[in-house]
Amino acid sequence: MHFGKFTTRPSIELEKLRRSDRESEMLMGIDHRAVGEKEGSRQSPRQRAARREPKRGTVTGMQDAEPLRQQVISANVDFYKEIARKYDGYEACASDEYLQEMLESDLNRMQSLLAKERIHGLDCGGGSGNLTLKMLKRGWNVTVVDVSADMLEISRAKVSASGYFAEFVNDSVEHYLSSSPGVFDVITFSSVLHHLYSPLDVVNEVAARVAPGGIFYSNFDPVLPSSRSLIACFCDLDTILAKILRDRKDLLPGMLRRLRKLTLAQDAAHRRPVASPGDLAEYHAREGLDDVSIAQALEQQGFLVQRERYPVARTKLMLWANKHLHAHLSFKILAQRKTLLSRETPDSEP
Ligand SMILES: C[S@@+](CC[C@H](N)C(=O)[O-])C[C@H]1O[C@@H](n2cnc3c(N)ncnc32)[C@H](O)[C@@H]1O
Repeated sequence: MHFGKFTTRPSIELEKLRRSDRESEMLMGIDHRAVGEKEGSRQSPRQRAARREPKRGTVTGMQDAEPLRQQVISANVDFYKEIARKYDGYEACASDEYLQEMLESDLNRMQSLLAKERIHGLDCGGGSGNLTLKMLKRGWNVTVVDVSADMLEISRAKVSASGYFAEFVNDSVEHYLSSSPGVFDVITFSSVLHHLYSPLDVVNEVAARVAPGGIFYSNFDPVLPSSRSLIACFCDLDTILAKILRDRKDLLPGMLRRLRKLTLAQDAAHRRPVASPGDLAEYHAREGLDDVSIAQALEQQGFLVQRERYPVARTKLMLWANKHLHAHLSFKILAQRKTLLSRETPDSEP
């Protein structure tokens, strides 16, 4: 099955990237080999990520990881307690007109792929309602799970003011998945995977909860950067500009937090200085996520995957710069679970 293109603007950007960047040539499911897997002494972004990856898959590894996972979850609760009220005006994915159009266009695609009347969606980390409301407006049944009571309160108010109904669950997605049954037609993560301690583990769990023919969707997560120092400079400058434009009160405190971090020792378990909840809440914001592995994990679970990368920034000026620099790329994945074909069922075997 062919999904066709996502939205137009990022695809055009992707075309440019493809031509200029060998890494991008392997995208879009044409070649899912790891970025930078070619022979050589320099480590690729994926190799660096694999070295940082907590040991998993063994009982010991999972036990070691649990307290760290809980710290990241708690940091998200604290982080959004501080910023919930300004979130909608600050975060590009919730306010930028073009990114809003991208979400609408992706929801159109999901709706046409599902081709059914009553769609039940699970919006993981639904936050203040960015994607939730768009789903509700289409007549979908929506369950929202979010660890932040403060973000859910904002979403709840918007949903009831618009005359809709959604089921709200104040829980971590990790706990919700392990403690509730059921499958969904669509499971979404909008700017959420990079907040999770083990995104790949969550993707694997979620995949089993997508109904046959249903959709996994994730957007607004950073890819593994080709240069960590370039992306650090880029993000710092972008954040300073965003604060000047939209959150001037936090400009000085934000700069002081950054300075303090320079003097702080690394937290050994999390391998970074931790000056405020934000340093753990956006757990993979700086080092990025391995979109290739996520796509492969979905494919292994029987999904047809479309993956796309595009340049992002919080401010228009930095977005313009990024389109030339390709410093900071986000990715999105829309994957449809293959429906069992009759020839695949044991009954119909010759
Ligand atoms: C960047 S916001 C995205 C909100 C919304 N999806 C949007 O598109 O604007 C990240 C959201 O994920 C939530 N979150 C972070 N970690 C979570 C977890 N482990 N389980 C559930 N929600 C989580 C946060 O509370 C926050 O509301």
